[in-house]
Amino acid sequence: MKILFLNGPNLNLLGDREQLIYGAKTLADIEELVHKEAAGLGIETEFRQTNYEGELVDWIQQGAESHDAIVLNAAAYTHTSIAIRDAIAAILAPVIEVHISNVYAREGFRHKSMVSPVCSGVIAGFGAASYLLGLRAAVAVLNSAK
Ligand code: DQA
Repeated sequence: MKILFLNGPNLNLLGDREQLIYGAKTLADIEELVHKEAAGLGIETEFRQTNYEGELVDWIQQGAESHDAIVLNAAAYTHTSIAIRDAIAAILAPVIEVHISNVYAREGFRHKSMVSPVCSGVIAGFGAASYLLGLRAAVAVLNSAK
């Protein structure tokens, strides 16, 4: 099983960025946590981050060919991007939406997700553990499809 973790804008700043909201772990720390957990389950993981919307679209399209499932933190593009939503809708591979923070406990503009309706499910508010839960969710969705 191969799972692709895609991260959107400003997530490269984790560790420095708004620590009270996003915690002290860097994206590299989260990648290591996920990688270790996945290795124990016999799953291959790959992590990528970009600040560019079109690059996320490319990676979603390509990820559908190269991986079994995608765990996506589209960051601010979650709330704005029809292009990312359409890319998810266009592929057959399941996509799990994750957020570090509880977006529903924050500003109103974060309550709307363009991508939720085309994702298998949403995990938000568990800090770095949202990614570990995203991994488990991807495995559950893939196993239930067998
Ligand atoms: C985020 C939540 C988004 O609203 C925000 O724009 C982010 C990070 C999260 O992981 O909590 O950049 O996706």
